[in-house]
Amino acid sequence: MRAVVTGGAGFIGSHVVDALLARGDEVHVLDDLSKGTRANVPEGAQLHEADIRGDAGGVFDTARPEVCFHLAAQADVRVSVERPDFDAEVNVLGTLQVLEAAQRHGTKVVFSSTGGAIYGECDGPADEDHPRNPLAPYGVSKLAAEEYISAYSRLHGSEHVSLRYGNVFGPRQDPHGEAGVVAIFMKRLHEGGTPRIFGDGTQTRDYVYVGDVVAATLAAAGHQGGVLNVGTGVETSVLDLYARVQRAAGLEREPQFADARAGELQRSVLDASRALRELGWAPQRSLDEGLAATWAWISSR
Ligand SMILES: NC(=O)c1ccc[n+]([C@@H]2O[C@H](COP(=O)([O-])OP(=O)(O)OC[C@H]3O[C@@H](n4cnc5c(N)ncnc54)[C@H](O)[C@@H]3O)[C@@H](O)[C@H]2O)c1
Repeated sequence: MRAVVTGGAGFIGSHVVDALLARGDEVHVLDDLSKGTRANVPEGAQLHEADIRGDAGGVFDTARPEVCFHLAAQADVRVSVERPDFDAEVNVLGTLQVLEAAQRHGTKVVFSSTGGAIYGECDGPADEDHPRNPLAPYGVSKLAAEEYISAYSRLHGSEHVSLRYGNVFGPRQDPHGEAGVVAIFMKRLHEGGTPRIFGDGTQTRDYVYVGDVVAATLAAAGHQGGVLNVGTGVETSVLDLYARVQRAAGLEREPQFADARAGELQRSVLDASRALRELGWAPQRSLDEGLAATWAWISSR
């Protein structure tokens, strides 16, 4: 297959690129390197250093892809609160540029969306019909992009897919951002620092290993179209996560506690039974196995 991976120089996208190359696909990466790095793009993939907002059409004309894995995004919740216009430019208008280019080339789009930021507060595993209560512009812009993707599918019969990921973790996650608590905890421990927990640490998330997310993302290219959750259905508190991170690292260090952050969700967890039914997908790595693989990467750098 010929594939375009937008955001292929970033954390999840670069793992998607690895998997596509491993099965022999021709891979074009469309990334402006605003967050991603050249070093993340493996040899064998062609990097087009370009912005989805202006250059998607040109890259698609060169690559003529059969499938596009669309991961390029403004993915920082805090930036979305501070600069909602910029967030919408990248996530909504940028996605429209990708959709228009895909339409001209008959390309199927698999879009990386978000469960937690769209559903908001959960009182148990949220399925795809859970009410949508985004707390931040980021959730709104990803949801708007999903709606355009669904509308293009209805209008043109294009069978695009949106995947709502849980909290993805694994090697290559940026430990400098606001998200990615696993990477942040591990980097602090590795540097000899003290990890910080906001609030009392009872807030829960659905942590899903990047290798499992990649498997779901590739499988979605053969799906008939729609919205699917990609998570484990398991809630893990920050306190429990930190205990597991310490075990994976073989280190023990008392964390610091800081004031809870305004607007942070208390509970977020996804029901991914539709992905099991319709994609035959289920996560394969336990949280502890994923943490061990992530520590191996962090500690080898
Ligand atoms: N990491 C998670 O836990 C998580 C959870 C849910 C959804 N997602 C989604 O998965 C996708 C990938 O996330 P990630 O964690 O790998 O983030 P990331 O920041 O590592 O990757 C995003 C990539 O997009 C690129 N990019 C940003 N703006 C661009 C633009 N205008 N044109 C071209 N490239 C641009 C960046 O340089 C970066 O390489 C995003 O769409 C994100 O919303 C991630």
